[in-house]
Amino acid sequence: MILSIPQGARILATGSAVPDLCINNQHLSQIVETSDDWIVNRTGIKERRILADKEKSIIDLASSASMNALQKASMKPLDIDLIILATSSPNDLFGSAGQLQASIGAHKAIAFDLTAACSGFVLAIVTATQFIQNGSYNNILVVGADVLSKWINWTDRSTCILFGDAAGAAIVQSCSQEDNGILGFQLNTDGKKAYQLSIPYEQNNYKTINNKTLKIVQGQFKHIVMNGKEVYKFAVSHVPVSILQCLNSLNILPKDIHWLLLHQANERILHAVANRLSISPNKIISNLSKYGNTSAASIPLALDEALNSQKIANNDIIVISGFGAGLTWGTVVIKWKCK
Ligand code: ACO
Repeated sequence: MILSIPQGARILATGSAVPDLCINNQHLSQIVETSDDWIVNRTGIKERRILADKEKSIIDLASSASMNALQKASMKPLDIDLIILATSSPNDLFGSAGQLQASIGAHKAIAFDLTAACSGFVLAIVTATQFIQNGSYNNILVVGADVLSKWINWTDRSTCILFGDAAGAAIVQSCSQEDNGILGFQLNTDGKKAYQLSIPYEQNNYKTINNKTLKIVQGQFKHIVMNGKEVYKFAVSHVPVSILQCLNSLNILPKDIHWLLLHQANERILHAVANRLSISPNKIISNLSKYGNTSAASIPLALDEALNSQKIANNDIIVISGFGAGLTWGTVVIKWKCK
């Protein structure tokens, strides 16, 4: 969808945070039957960060990333009108965005969670853009944060080697039409395939309460379950189509983009998608060897790192695509505007 409305929106600054504890593949081979060779060859991941401190939560990571972004934008928490926290691992099922708002002192901001796993950051950027373009808000803090280490079955070698914990933040701000940096988007969901990747809620047996007055079923969320092969096939076949549709709607050719920033799930997926679009591997932004798959945090974490290293220049076109549980996938195309 091309965005053609009077109010422009752009990403003003980004920030990120990762926990201190670094677990490399060697460490993991002491926990499950695996090897550094297997993990590197199949995924490209060498190490990941894990939130192990009992006193710390997803809110600490999200707050650090947010303060980092605010500082780079020379803004104060009270300047923020809206906070969108993209996460699938909140510390409160009713939502954690309110805790983030309190933690950073953004007391004037409305705050809500957005749940879309690894596509969460893309959906949150698109959502923030709508609020800016319809004139509702001017300064929006978008955070992608996940601590999937809390939801991993650490005896399942097919999933525990993949994930890491992190948070990434972006300040999306209103601007003139000429400075518009969010050019367009394309989003998709296929709920029929939700079972391929989920953290299912499992019901227990009926429980009678107060001498048979009430018969009720309760349960709990279990661990991440994923059909890796199917999710892999879905990603390499559907993500290029989403990118092409989005670029076509903007009259941009794949060869004219400067950077390809995909959800950091697997190095092989990044290269297969670039290959299908005939995009040079030099244009792939990748940092998953250091952090693994950090779910909603992976795109803003990689974007922040690329910006910090001054890889991205003014007016560069960046194609950003998220994909994952839902199943959800989508693309947002941005033109980077230096402050
Ligand atoms: N170490 C060693 N061997 C392993 C490991 C391991 N950690 N895990 C699996 N194996 C074995 C399997 O048992 C299998 O053995 P077999 O041939 O004897 O049966 C063999 O390795 C191959 O297993 P596959 O599952 O077929 O391996 P594959 O090449 O598909 O790689 C992987 C698995 C890395 C998970 C890949 O499928 C993948 O990246 N899938 C996509 C994941 C993804 O993109 N998720 C998206 C978002 S996440 C979100 O939304 C929260």
